[in-house]
Amino acid sequence: MSGHIEERRINIRDISHLKGNRPIVSLTAYSAPTARILDSHVDMILVGDSLGMVIYGMETTVGVTLDMMISHGSAVVRATEKACVIVDLPFGSYQESPEVAFKSAARVLAATGCNGVKLEGGVEMAETVQFLTSRGIPVLGHVGLMPQSVNAAGGFRVQGRTVDDARRIRDDAVSIADAGAFSIVIENTVEPLARSLSEVLKIPTIGIGASPACDGQILVTEDMVGLSGQFKPRFVKRYAELGESFEKVIEEYKKEVLSRQFPTEDHCAKSESKVPRLAAISSREKNGRGA
Ligand code: KIV
Repeated sequence: MSGHIEERRINIRDISHLKGNRPIVSLTAYSAPTARILDSHVDMILVGDSLGMVIYGMETTVGVTLDMMISHGSAVVRATEKACVIVDLPFGSYQESPEVAFKSAARVLAATGCNGVKLEGGVEMAETVQFLTSRGIPVLGHVGLMPQSVNAAGGFRVQGRTVDDARRIRDDAVSIADAGAFSIVIENTVEPLARSLSEVLKIPTIGIGASPACDGQILVTEDMVGLSGQFKPRFVKRYAELGESFEKVIEEYKKEVLSRQFPTEDHCAKSESKVPRLAAISSREKNGRGA
């Protein structure tokens, strides 16, 4: 982490130690191919429940299930050996009680082999975070904009614009940190508030639409490489337009299939010996010389 090449997977202690040293680099992945690409470039991969919207085309993350998170989380862990992997607990799998949250989180950890879980919530979830962390389950908190509460919040709005709202978010972040979370995501929250939370909290803050002063940054990979269509929150920087390249490639393939330029001999199965054509085989069979 401090310059020399690590042979083992980055763990949550390594992530904690990065605070005050250098920014934590984090992105989301939901599948083995993406995770394989990210693995040697980022400190932390989040298997976010944003997969409901990005992969499954849902309107919100509310319909994502624990089984979905386990399937995608397992694929990401299998495809990586270096990055710390955190899997989101989906809506409905932890809010009911600390015991229910423990069952869900333990299932995710055991089934995927990930390093920890993330859950959304502030003061009201502090007891649950304390319950999990004191029983060996590392928790990444998530405050500010909390997409699982989009129905109650009335949309994906910027958070912390009023004094009351800023106070609420500060109390949320402090209570989750005090409850033992190893780090905390601050989403779509006004910059000065995210900055001051990063100064006040002892655990690393991971910003998304928050502040460059956060201890790390995260984005949804599909958003930043241009694979999520027209959808682009203001805080996303598009580093590439892979969707456009993808379309060009598909068009080229279509042209080559239609014009029979693809496949060439190189892309067809070869046989060791000279195999006769179907017509020759049938006439041999007719003359009783089948085999
Ligand atoms: O679900 C997700 O991908 C997230 C990130 C946007 C932080 O929670």
